[in-house]
Order: sequence, then structure tokens, then C-alpha cells
Amino acid sequence: MIPPQTVAKIMDAAQIQEVVGEFVTLKKRGANYVANCPFHNEKTPSFSVSPAKGIYKCFGCGNAGNSAKFVMEHENMSYPEALRFLAKRYNIEIEEVNTEEAIEEKQERDSLFIVNEFASHYYQKNLFETDEGKSIGLSYFRERGFREETIKKFQLGYSLEQYDALFKEATAKGYKVEYLQKLGLARNKNGRDYDFFRARVQFPIFNLSGKVIAFAGRTLKKDKKIPKYINSPETEIYHKSFILYGMYFAKRAIRQQDECFMVEGYTDVISLHQAGIENVVASSGTSLTEEQIRLVKRYTPNITMLYDGDAAGLKAAIRGTDMILEQGLNVKVVVLPDGEDPDSFVQQQGRTGFEEYIAENAKDFIFFKTNLLLEEAKDDPVKKTALVRDIIQTLAKIPDPIKRALYIKECSNLLDLSEQIIINETNKLKWGQLKKQQERAPDVPNMGMDIVEVEQIMEKESDAREDKNYLYINQEKALVRVLLEFGKHELELEVPVGAYIISEIEELTLDLPVHQQIVNLYKLHLEEGKLLDADFFIAHEDDTVSKTAVTLIHAQELSENWEKKHNIFITPKTMRFKADVYSSLNAFKMAQVKRLMDECLQELQNAKSEEEIKEFQETYMTLMEWQRELATERKTVIVR
Ligand code: CTP
Ligand code: MN
Repeated sequence: MIPPQTVAKIMDAAQIQEVVGEFVTLKKRGANYVANCPFHNEKTPSFSVSPAKGIYKCFGCGNAGNSAKFVMEHENMSYPEALRFLAKRYNIEIEEVNTEEAIEEKQERDSLFIVNEFASHYYQKNLFETDEGKSIGLSYFRERGFREETIKKFQLGYSLEQYDALFKEATAKGYKVEYLQKLGLARNKNGRDYDFFRARVQFPIFNLSGKVIAFAGRTLKKDKKIPKYINSPETEIYHKSFILYGMYFAKRAIRQQDECFMVEGYTDVISLHQAGIENVVASSGTSLTEEQIRLVKRYTPNITMLYDGDAAGLKAAIRGTDMILEQGLNVKVVVLPDGEDPDSFVQQQGRTGFEEYIAENAKDFIFFKTNLLLEEAKDDPVKKTALVRDIIQTLAKIPDPIKRALYIKECSNLLDLSEQIIINETNKLKWGQLKKQQERAPDVPNMGMDIVEVEQIMEKESDAREDKNYLYINQEKALVRVLLEFGKHELELEVPVGAYIISEIEELTLDLPVHQQIVNLYKLHLEEGKLLDADFFIAHEDDTVSKTAVTLIHAQELSENWEKKHNIFITPKTMRFKADVYSSLNAFKMAQVKRLMDECLQELQNAKSEEEIKEFQETYMTLMEWQRELATERKTVIVR
């Protein structure tokens, strides 16, 4: 065990940009660094590293974390392995605290692995060397078309009919009853020890390094009362929800092909492997867990779900799929011909036929789901409403805003519904989700929007319904007021407020023409070395300018209400002019960026070519970057 002080030392030393920089070429952009994401294929960089926060995040695939997490993901290491790796890099000595407890725990785990290994060998021996195993188990596998090399590769075996065959052999060889029971291989009832797996073909389940952690046993009896498969229980070394059957054999191929096939059954995985299709894992008949999806995500962002031809289970199956989208993966769906499962289909078609079928029939999950539900709803308006809700839920789960926008566009066509309605509804849901997430885990570093921002945007959104530019205009107002009121005051290094504000907003336009006019006048005089104040504008010949200046300066009530409402100016009045300047500038820029982002998304949705899409995506990334910087800046502004 690595003591927590040492972990802290390692994490302090392991600067995120350095650690990532060892594996990835980073380019500086603002306060952060960007690169092409090492965890998924991309041509334009959406991978960002923030030295200030000590974290990396990919906006494409969603992979994110600190230095240790990066090493874990990139080098395929466990957490302690990653820490040791970093400690070595930064010459930090690790004094392991090998408490008795820790040693015992490790020994127990090792023992469990050893006993499982014995059991696996034993089942294999039964299959190949006993009469019962050969005539029942082996002939069954042969009948199913499994070749000997395949059986050996997956270490398939057979458990004898005799009620305590394994128990006797194991104890005779000195393996402890305690471990046999812990692993669920043997049980004791009324003082009698008996085997859990009997008269079944045995499928060992492996962890990522190829060690046997559990078994599944399939009965060969036709009796419907006997469960077809039984499984080892959860143990210290087998956490079902973290495991995908076949991952040990598939991981290399998944990375290489940059795609993972997801099937239901053990035999599906085995048959596909035998046919040469190795990037395949099985969910083992249950719905996928978040951990399983994260496991896939270590190797690829692309999942293709293969479903059996009988459509009965299809709707139930797609229910769990939203979660995959939530994790930022790209999901496709293939439905096999009626009555076929991946195993039977690949045996019938061979590799080429199978692959051709997949290529021709893979459908994007969201469109697949939309069409499936549409077909069912037909012209029933009640069903259609439910369907729209359902699809909007799904769309809201897509974390990448660009991807989401593209899907919304397509779904609006499919559903024959205006894009704006879908956008509004997904936004509502999205913000709800974000808020919940924040409430649940307030301490988790979050490079996305923080809750204040989200609320501000939501507020803006509702304001926008009354007056589209309400918030923009108010933020402009605050800024122009500050300009007029404090234009001649000096900030740090004797920079006058007027000069500072004008230079900061040089490239931005103000919404209200009179505000822009005031800024232009200010700029004009500034270029001649003159600083203006409120009086100049109050006395201005243009009536609108004059009235605006009066309102801005004297309508304190309005601005104070606004301040309260937006909770921006919280410093004591006497010393607050600097805070006023910084925070109004920040708020104004925030609103501008948000607007540019909205415009960019809008344009993205109308984009005609790959080229254009890429360009807008890049712009969008830059804007997000900017937004984040402003958010960080604002936090310091508020405490100033
Ligand atoms: N399963 C299970 N318990 C059952 C039935 C199924 O755990 N009683 C799981 C198994 O992981 C199985 C998967 O669900 O592999 C898919 O079930 P099914 O299609 O019935 O089995 P296959 O794997 O196709 O097995 P076979 O081809 O031998 O029928
Ligand atoms: Mn099957």
C-alpha cells in the first residue's frame, strides 16, 4: 500500500502537462494546452490539458482526469501501478506500508486466483480426458462447430455429474475448503460438501490480464426447470459489473480496429473469434453497467451492438443504451436476420459474409431508436408524444454539444418537428442533469460549465423568452455605466479605466446602437489622449446619448436591483469601483462568448461540407476555451 502522504507528493510532482507531454505532442493555447486525443481517432484536436487545474479532458470522447488517471488510461495500468510509474519518473521514494492486514489481503487474493486456476485445469482435463467429458462435453462443443484450438484458447471445460468430484480432487491436492467455498465452487449443506457446477460445460471468465476470476456453466440438459447458465458468485476477485466476457482476448483487436462489437452470449464471442473477428465482448445477457462501458472506452469510443433477429427483446435491449451515449461513445446497432444470433450467423456466413452484413446494416443508434419507435407509434398522437419525450431524453444524454446539435438536426427531420423545439427541450433536460450532477459531486473538478454559469444561462434563456436580448443589454448597460462613472479612475499601473475597457472590448460589438455610439465616442477621444466622463455625455448634443447617460448614472435603483439579482457586485461600495470594472467586463464578455457559441452551433447545423463542420468545430472549441478562462477569471473577480 502506498501511504496517502506519498500519493500527495507524487501528485504534486507530476505536473499534468509534463506527464501528458511525454506521450502526446501538446500545443499551447491560452492558459491551456491542446492536442489530438490519444484515446480516440481524430484529426482536429479536442483534447485539452489545464495546468492550473491539474487535469486533462477530451471533448470528443469524454476521457478526463488527473496525471495518475492519464497514465492508467494511456498505459493500461491500475491505479497503484500508475502511481509507482510516476514516483519513479519524479524520483519519489515509496515506503510501502505493508500492514499485516494488507499482506493478508494480498495473500487471500492470490490464493483465490490459484484455486480458480486449479479448477479451470481440472475442468479442462475432464473435457479431454474423461469418458463422460469426451462423450458429453467435447462432442457437444464439436457439434456446435467449435474447433479444438478454439476450445483450448478459451480454456473451455466440463464439470462431472458426480456431486463432489471437484471438491474431492481439490481437497486431496491440499486446496483449502475455505477458498473453494469463497469462490462458490463448493458448498456445504447439512454437513455435506458438494460441487456448485455439475454436468455442465464450463466457461472460465478472465480478468484483463488473463487470470481466471469466475466460471459460467451451461447445462446440456433440455429440462426447462434447470437454469441454462449458472455463474460464480461475486467475490473479492470477481465483480460482475466490471467485467465483459472476452475482453482479455479482445482488447488488442478493439484498439486496432477502433471498434468494439457487443454481443450477448459467451458462445457468440467464441464463434466470432474462431471466425477471425476478435474485437468482440459479451455483456452476458444482462444490461450494461457504467463500469463496463468505461472499460470499453479505454480502448475505443465506438461500440456496435449486435442484436439477435427476433425483435422481441430489442426494445428492452435499447433501453440501456442511453447510458452508453452518456459516456460519450458512438453507438451503432446491427440487427441480425430473423432467428439468428451472432454465433449461428457467423457459422453460417463465414467472416466475409458476416462483415459485409455488418457494414451494410449498421445503423446509428439514435436514428435506429427513432425509427423503431416511430414505426410503433404510427399515427397515434399519444404514442408519438411519448416517443418524442423519449428521443429528447436520449439526445440530452450526448455530452458533446457539437455531436448533439448534429443529431438534433437529423432527428428533427425524422420526427417532423422544428429543430428549435428539440433544442429547447434537450437544453432543459441537460441543465437539469448538470445541476443534479453538481449537487451529487460538488468536489469533483469539472472543466465544463459550473453551476453558476448554468444558472446564468438558464436565466438568460428564460429572459430571452420575454426579450431576446435582455441580458446582453443589461450587461452592456452595466459596462457602459462603469465606463462613464469611473472612466478617469486609475487601475493598477496607472491604467485609466476608460482606456482599459476600450481596449478590452475593441473587437466586440454592443447590441444597443446608442451603447455602441457612446463607446465609439469614447474611443475617438481616447485616440487624442482625452479621457471622458459622464458629464461629457450628459451634455452631448445627441438627445439619445444624453438621455442614456443620465439614465445610466442616475437610475441607481435599477442598477442596484440588477446587481442584487445577478449577485455580481458584492464588495463594499467605497472600494468597489475596480470590482465593478472587472466584473462588468467579465460578465459582458461571458455573454458575448455565449452568443458567439450559439451562433457557431447554429452555423454548424447549417454546415454543408466536412470542411465547414471542422472549421466550426474548431471555432467552437476555442470559444469554449475562452468561456472557461472567463469563468476562472470571474471567480477571482468576485473575491477581489
Ligand atoms: N444467460 C445467463 N443465464 C441464463 C441464460 C442466459 O446468464 N439462464 C446469459 C449468458 O451469459 C448467455 C447470454 O445470457 O451467454 C445469452 O443467452 P443465450 O442467448 O440464451 O445463450 P447463448 O450464449 O447464445 O448460449 P447458447 O448458444 O449455448 O444457447
Ligand atoms: Mn446462442
